[in-house]
Amino acid sequence: MPLSSQWDIEAYVSVHLVQEMLIKAGIPKRLGGMICWHPEFRIKVPKIDGTGFTEKKVDFLIEDHTRHVSFLIEVKSAKQRINDEARFQLVEKYLYRSNIKFGVLIDPFSIEIYEYGQSKPKARFEIEDPNHIEPLATFLKTFLETVKMRTIAIHTSKGGVGKTTLTINMAYELAKQGNKVLVVDLDDQANASLSLGVNKADEIDAASSLEEVERILDSFEERQELVEFLLECVEKDFDYRKYIHSSSFNTYLENRDGKVDVLPGSYKTKSHSLEEVASGEKRLDKGLLKLAGEYDYCLIDTPPTYNRITWNGIFAAQYIVIPSQMEYLSVYGIRNPIRKTREVREDTGEARGIILGIVPMMTDNTTKIVKTILALVEKNFPNIPLLTKVERATDIREASYQRVPISVRAEHTSKAGGVAKQLADLTRDIVERIDSLESEKGV
Ligand SMILES: Nc1ncnc2c1ncn2[C@@H]1O[C@H](COP(=O)(O)OP(=O)(O)O)[C@@H](O)[C@H]1O
Ligand SMILES: [Mg+2]
Repeated sequence: MPLSSQWDIEAYVSVHLVQEMLIKAGIPKRLGGMICWHPEFRIKVPKIDGTGFTEKKVDFLIEDHTRHVSFLIEVKSAKQRINDEARFQLVEKYLYRSNIKFGVLIDPFSIEIYEYGQSKPKARFEIEDPNHIEPLATFLKTFLETVKMRTIAIHTSKGGVGKTTLTINMAYELAKQGNKVLVVDLDDQANASLSLGVNKADEIDAASSLEEVERILDSFEERQELVEFLLECVEKDFDYRKYIHSSSFNTYLENRDGKVDVLPGSYKTKSHSLEEVASGEKRLDKGLLKLAGEYDYCLIDTPPTYNRITWNGIFAAQYIVIPSQMEYLSVYGIRNPIRKTREVREDTGEARGIILGIVPMMTDNTTKIVKTILALVEKNFPNIPLLTKVERATDIREASYQRVPISVRAEHTSKAGGVAKQLADLTRDIVERIDSLESEKGV
């Protein structure tokens, strides 16, 4: 059946095919700052005589913060169909110059999705009938689901409760399951960076004098890490790879796609660096869009205080996991993160700050008091589930001194097996909870 001549007009294709597809795929024009279409998005291209830049317009930039993915769209008509010229313009000009990873080419006959740096389309779909949007919308949604990243902040307003321990061990467990994981260290104590082997812990241990330690610490001055990532992520030529390091945990992983990378911090992580910056508490969220498709999970280790750096974690995280020791005082401490994140949940239509649950940390099952406290938690926070508990075990402390994941220690020391299993179970518990929340939302 021949298409009606309206499809020869690009503007018609844009409204009736592209915009309909986005809406049906659950990407509305605007959603609480979480989703945004930028039509006629301008991109600077250098002039051929090298005397500056000219601006080119691409039909759309779509920013989907609910999945941490952004992409460009170029619309073609039935008359001016997708061809190699259009593919070149999209990939080598627009994606390259805008530093955006994904680009979509669409005409009334097909849709092609490109990733910068790859010659073949990452996904392609034949459109049987451009009047029937549903299959096309499903195709786009499925694609976005494959490149999306899940972000989880490990947070509570108390120190020493096991935030960092959870972060690094969950990262390893997720990587064991074949996930690419990024750990973001927001704490200026940088324990996660040290444990994950990117902060010269071995050298510091081996140092024989104070001067030597100072020299090692001074070397972070030159390194591009968290604070520079937050400051520089809005720049045009921003390359996230410069700030991200491979964790020493990767040496323990079998080669099954999984890996742990780190966006490390150090004493340089100070919130005053962001004071002069507009929307300085949303920089991490912005920066994470740039690494779309690179990671399956991003785990954010947070400090126990509420400063601008901590807020960066809360605004970037879809999900929050709250570790708590089973003491009366700690139980009241849980209120803080729940209250502080409430507004974020409301403002973002629950795209951010969803509390996955409370992890009872360092429990000691033999005592009656733990049971009383567990009952108290359940009574006070009835809508927030208790996740798999992690018992107190000296092996966790040992593993953290050795800078190995507890599960690697447990392969050598059988008595570490108990807590290692609990951390593996907890990680699965968390993934299952996210799966079920997302399937309820219909994604
Ligand atoms: N389940 C556990 N059993 C024993 N010690 C633990 C356990 N979890 C954490 N620890 C230890 O408690 C200390 C504080 O943990 P950490 O993860 O650094 O807490 P936070 O990041 O909340 O300050 C560390 O020395 C860590 O090794
Ligand atoms: Mg910590």
